[in-house]
Amino acid sequence: MSVPEIRRVGVVGLGAMGAGIAQLAIEAGFETVGREVSDELGSAARDKIAHFLQRKVDKERMTSTERESALGQLSLTTELADLADCDLVIEAIVEDLDAKLELFGALEGIVRPDAILATNTSALSVTEIAAGVSTPERVVGMHFFNPAPLMPLVEIVRAELSSDEAVEAAFGVGERLGKRPIRCHDTPGFVVNRVLIPLLNDCIRVLDEARVSPEDLDTAMTAGAGWPMGPCTLVDLVGIDVHVHASEALYEKLREPRMAPPPRIVAMKNAGLLGRKSGRGFYSYD
Ligand SMILES: NC(=O)c1ccc[n+]([C@@H]2O[C@H](COP(=O)([O-])OP(=O)(O)OC[C@H]3O[C@@H](n4cnc5c(N)ncnc54)[C@H](O)[C@@H]3O)[C@@H](O)[C@H]2O)c1
Repeated sequence: MSVPEIRRVGVVGLGAMGAGIAQLAIEAGFETVGREVSDELGSAARDKIAHFLQRKVDKERMTSTERESALGQLSLTTELADLADCDLVIEAIVEDLDAKLELFGALEGIVRPDAILATNTSALSVTEIAAGVSTPERVVGMHFFNPAPLMPLVEIVRAELSSDEAVEAAFGVGERLGKRPIRCHDTPGFVVNRVLIPLLNDCIRVLDEARVSPEDLDTAMTAGAGWPMGPCTLVDLVGIDVHVHASEALYEKLREPRMAPPPRIVAMKNAGLLGRKSGRGFYSYD
């Protein structure tokens, strides 16, 4: 398939991930159309982006003029029809297959036939999402990491029927967004989560098996294995609920016992100990 030069990018869903992706797109100079389900959510996302760009100005990583020009690249809408002229649409809506299938089906009737459709899903199959459209060759995964403006990696995921051109175009956009893209196939957890989730679950099990404290486990892995951050600190940062959900999703697909969330962390989630965001997880935060 031939793919267009990517000038105009649509981002559907401006939540935690979508707002970060839209920020990257406007900073890279793409005309960007952000679609939210309500005007209020759209404005909240724009305010958040404006705030983060102001912080960059304050830290002298960007000028006020660059900030204004970036913000000028962002238009907001609640109508999918306003994505008609986008060369690439990145979907970052709720992690629900039916919602994504419905969205991709609708987008197919709106965007040009050569426009690329990308999903930021973490745990769903890109191939299954692509199966919802009649032109699956244009569907790829672009899996950003949270927070998207700060985390350098983006996994460019090839689904069963993705075309080489769509994969390479998405890879090129990843580079233009200032990321370090990698290419991989559509398998559960892609690359990072496939490796990291069972590993973090091992760490959590070791807390009980070796009767080691979270502090000492973190010291063990930073001082003994060269990790930049200890596993308990990392899971607190990611969110206990997010980690449990990702573990369950991976376990459901691969059925390997190490993928299943350890009971200790499920109990933490049920008790509302969600890590940094709730003020308490393995550690307490004031
Ligand atoms: N949060 C993470 O760490 C992370 C990392 C990588 C990928 N992801 C993936 O990114 C996607 C978005 O996650 P998030 O954390 O930004 O979620 P979020 O809850 O912050 O945002 C979800 C967005 O979806 C919109 N939405 C909800 N229901 C919708 C529907 N039926 N139709 C259209 N829009 C709808 C909401 O208005 C909101 O903008 C998910 O697929 C998630 O798996 C998340």
